[in-house]
Amino acid sequence: MNIRPRRNRKSEAIRRMVQENHVTVNDLVYPLFLVDGKNIKEEVSSLPGNYRFSLDNLLKEIENCISIGLKSFILFPSIPEELKDKTATYSYSPDNFYLKAAREIKKLFPEVCLISDVAMDPYSSDGHDGYVEGGEIINDITLEILAKMAVAQAQAGFDFLGPSDMMDGRVGFIRNALDENGFKNTSIMSYTAKYASAFYGPFRDALDSAPKDGDKKTYQMNPANSDEALLEAELDVTEGADVIMVKPALNYLDIIFRLKTNFEIPIAAYHVSGECAMLMAACQNGWLDYKIAMPEALMSIKRAGADIIITYFAKDFAQMQSK
Ligand code: PBG
Repeated sequence: MNIRPRRNRKSEAIRRMVQENHVTVNDLVYPLFLVDGKNIKEEVSSLPGNYRFSLDNLLKEIENCISIGLKSFILFPSIPEELKDKTATYSYSPDNFYLKAAREIKKLFPEVCLISDVAMDPYSSDGHDGYVEGGEIINDITLEILAKMAVAQAQAGFDFLGPSDMMDGRVGFIRNALDENGFKNTSIMSYTAKYASAFYGPFRDALDSAPKDGDKKTYQMNPANSDEALLEAELDVTEGADVIMVKPALNYLDIIFRLKTNFEIPIAAYHVSGECAMLMAACQNGWLDYKIAMPEALMSIKRAGADIIITYFAKDFAQMQSK
């Protein structure tokens, strides 16, 4: 036997020297939930360790995160029911608390990368990502609404806009609207291959954004499909996306790998709420060791080809690294 792979595993120093992949805090994006009001910090029961913050507490949270090396955040609003309507008008209203919060965050912490969510569901009385008429999600009317939302978010100072709606043609439509309104430098991180997944449950609890009727299968992708992700990616790249995303992450590592090997632009993976909640629940039960299992999950996503990982574990990971 002249080839013995175990020789490269015989000590910690050697294992580190030959290690192929690394997860660092630079790769991570931390999702944050915002509510209107003051002095609010409510835990999301199905996502332990994650909270809905009012802006005052959110600013403190961001400051803490920055002190342990996190630099990128993706912000989601929890909108009171009475502000929701069929056309999501509150999403681009000048007194929208989400837009005001973004302004404040970028004013206090200009160095962070702040990513938005472009989709109707937090603002829609139907709880869908698009405009609903007679039970149908109308693609092209939705694009007009998304463009208004996108321009308002760019105005508020978001570095990246994150269209998570899966309407056809939205990346190009938003790109044009941004350019026409003088926001050539606002970037787009597109939810390119977003699947109609059961693993978004805790997120919908956090924002109270579940569809009132039906499901999201006419716009989000069928979990059985893989070639279709390449088509979606081709469209998003041609339409001007700066980063393309796969969502969920852990259950879709093959999709991450296919996009990474077929496209030259950065790939993000959204390690979604249900995937994180599952692991947390097992750890809380004493069935898995959080300190080892959690970084292993992130490493798997990185190894599959993700350049960027959006994960509810970002803060814990950064904390572990900074010790
Ligand atoms: C909706 C949106 C969802 C998530 C991010 N943006 C849920 C959905 O499509 O219903 C889910 C994120 C997560 O589960 O962590 N625009």
